[in-house]
Amino acid sequence: MEQRKNWFVSINRPEDPAHPTPFEQEHTPVLEMPEEVKYGESVSVTMRVGQQPHPYQNEHHIQFIELFQNDLYLVHIPFIPVVTRPEVTMTLVFKEGGMLRVVSRCNLHGLWETTRLLKVVQ
Ligand SMILES: [Fe+2]
Repeated sequence: MEQRKNWFVSINRPEDPAHPTPFEQEHTPVLEMPEEVKYGESVSVTMRVGQQPHPYQNEHHIQFIELFQNDLYLVHIPFIPVVTRPEVTMTLVFKEGGMLRVVSRCNLHGLWETTRLLKVVQ
């Protein structure tokens, strides 16, 4: 199935999130940060692809990773093959909660996303 699907017509997610296949684990972005943060305080956020390392060869690699909060576009990190690995840690400051969405793109297997609800407390 993974070889026949047209990966570029939609945003991809594991079909069964509780039991992702090894292929899905390679492509699904991972977001590492607390589930709850304090209003206005700096928080360290790590994004990477994926739960298992994705290839980083010229022929097959992750091109970028992006982070959104609700409809707000927060960051876009491009990667080049071979040299860079699709993992980045940054400091963010949140003043409101909402849905966080990490989107990454594999040059062969399209867009993949992970979402998580963020809670901001006073
Ligand atoms: Fe891929």
